[in-house]
Amino acid sequence: MRNREMFHWTQEAYLYIDLMCKREFVRGFRAIDAERSLEELKILDAGCGTGALTRELREHFGPRSIFGCDIEKQSIDECKNQNPHIHYFVHDLLKPMQTGIKFDLVIFSTAIAQFSEAEQLKVINNVKAQLNEGGFIWITDVNDDATNNLFNHLTVNYQVIYKNKYSKHLFNKFFIFPLAKHLPISLLRIIDNFSIGSNVLTQIIIKT
Ligand SMILES: C[S@@+](CC[C@H](N)C(=O)[O-])C[C@H]1O[C@@H](n2cnc3c(N)ncnc32)[C@H](O)[C@@H]1O
Repeated sequence: MRNREMFHWTQEAYLYIDLMCKREFVRGFRAIDAERSLEELKILDAGCGTGALTRELREHFGPRSIFGCDIEKQSIDECKNQNPHIHYFVHDLLKPMQTGIKFDLVIFSTAIAQFSEAEQLKVINNVKAQLNEGGFIWITDVNDDATNNLFNHLTVNYQVIYKNKYSKHLFNKFFIFPLAKHLPISLLRIIDNFSIGSNVLTQIIIKT
């Protein structure tokens, strides 16, 4: 009988990355779960783009729990077409919200680094005003000067319930996918942690 080759999941580098991102999301929600029941959460995906995250969240949360907003009307129209059960609205995050809805968690998934340093604080204050007491702000974004200052500001001024750095692109600086086939997962993780560059994301969740 021919020996079957063992399947190692790092053979699928994209799967590895996908799982890495999902693991970060699971860890984030676990941290929130330690503070507040997840069933009660009203969640806003701020700067939701095409709505990929809202669709993912919708699979785990109830129909009235997930909201998405973006400044681009076209994106919001597409989101509405694709997900009639999720509540989307056009909104400029630089302006105070007029929805009247209070949220428990606002997520910025790569939607904060595009603002200047001063604008980032304004955006955070605007969503803070829209949070229920003890609500959470969750940011996942690249590390540049402005966001690093924001992450430091949030760390000093708020209770941080989760913070981690991870890479969305395996070996983001060198992009050596074939290596993933040959190295054990523990070593891959260590090497990936050493990579520096704009593709390394910081994930931080604060309690307000
Ligand atoms: C890099 S995309 C991220 C999209 C999505 N969160 C994701 O993870 O795929 C940034 C999004 O922020 C939106 N955006 C830019 N400026 C905005 C503003 N002032 N108010 C609301 N959304 C804004 C853009 O239209 C875009 O959809």
